[in-house]
Amino acid sequence: MKSLVVYYSHYGNTAFVTHKAWTELSKKGEADIFEVEYINGKKNIIKRFFYRFFPFFVKIKSIPSDLSAYDVLFLGIPVLAAHPSSALLKYIKSVQSIDNKNIICCYVYGLELSAKHCAAKITKILEKSGHPRIANVFIPWINVHNADLLDKMLLDAINKLS
Ligand SMILES: Cc1cc2nc3c(=O)[nH]c(=O)nc-3n(C[C@H](O)[C@H](O)[C@H](O)COP(=O)(O)O)c2cc1C
Repeated sequence: MKSLVVYYSHYGNTAFVTHKAWTELSKKGEADIFEVEYINGKKNIIKRFFYRFFPFFVKIKSIPSDLSAYDVLFLGIPVLAAHPSSALLKYIKSVQSIDNKNIICCYVYGLELSAKHCAAKITKILEKSGHPRIANVFIPWINVHNADLLDKMLLDAINKLS
């Protein structure tokens, strides 16, 4: 099983969770990990506010987005200002060859309602591009360093992969 692991993290929690998932996926086969990075604008709060409404204008560094060679895509998604990260949204819109792929969307959040709203939005975007098998994992940021809980939540999703 070959996995592509992609995440964005502003404050570090999604990075922590995603590296844990990458470690687990690596036990099942090859796993490549990439952090989505802004070409510019990460440090500019006005630009980030603008991107929240117009993610089309976000410029991100190029990372693999064609899933042809992968069985699984794991997305580490921080929920910020009631939205998924704009940089990650931009990446998700560029993903190709998603038919029949397993996609784990892992949301790191503060408010459950926000996270569910983001999940609905991202599911819609992914399903527009094909027919993936999507599994959502919701991790409250306060539980990120609860090792037992984090392991359980991630392993539950990873072990269900076909
Ligand atoms: C400025 C700011 C805005 C946030 N807005 C939301 C929000 O609207 N909904 C939510 O569920 N969590 C929100 N959170 C909590 C983040 O999801 C949480 O801090 C998460 O760890 C961010 O991911 P990161 O550490 O990988 O950057 C917010 C956090 C910050 C600092």
